[in-house]
Amino acid sequence: MNLVDTHCHLDDEKFSEDLAEVVNRARESGVNRIINFGDRLATSNRVVEIAREFDGLFAGVGIHPEEAFQMQKSDDERIIQLAEDSHVVAIGEIGLDYYWEKDSDRRKLQREIFIRQIDLARQLHLPICVHDREAHGDTIEILKREAHGIRGVLHCFSGSLEIAMEAIKLGFFIGVDGPITFKNSKKLPEIVREIPRDFLLIETDSPYMSPTPNRGKRNEPAFVKFVAEKIAEIRGESLDEVARYTTRNAEDLYSI
Ligand code: NI
Repeated sequence: MNLVDTHCHLDDEKFSEDLAEVVNRARESGVNRIINFGDRLATSNRVVEIAREFDGLFAGVGIHPEEAFQMQKSDDERIIQLAEDSHVVAIGEIGLDYYWEKDSDRRKLQREIFIRQIDLARQLHLPICVHDREAHGDTIEILKREAHGIRGVLHCFSGSLEIAMEAIKLGFFIGVDGPITFKNSKKLPEIVREIPRDFLLIETDSPYMSPTPNRGKRNEPAFVKFVAEKIAEIRGESLDEVARYTTRNAEDLYSI
């Protein structure tokens, strides 16, 4: 089997003791490629370092909406420099988080920083990895208005089927994570069943979002196979088939 974990955070301190073992376990499970995403300048720097250290690892660099208020204009330059590294395959994760941010001025700032990083992605000819939590309307509106000619993914998708279809119309992929395996997952299985296979990506968001049967524990890239298995079950496809097309999608989006 040949799987890609298209979204994780192996720079997290939860992996500081056993990163090499985690990467090995992923390979043993057929997860041959892993894309790590930064959320600040420091972590963006770190994910590039990790990608240089291990075969099959890649990086996305960018400022997460929860960190947007710390971003300086001069940080753009630093992101551009980081993106020059051949391991960098995306700008991300970027986007909007209205779950954690209730203040309207700060939400406005999130939108500005999101748009600025979409412009950076255009300049750098890179796709974007979008974090959208309880901000589906504004996210889609910004993508429609600002992201012409840019490809990307709505990572850890949590919107409705309508939002998913709108994103797909814009050429965006839908990233599916551990919650698809949860017993109380209702909307997501329907979305996964309905959308065209050419727009599905699998991811773990490690160390978060651990799928059943490891729910509540530290997540790691090897567990992306549980997400693939669940997708296969929901769509009535074989695991091999799901592995094949999600890997092809990842290769297509991220040029890996
Ligand atoms: Ni993430």
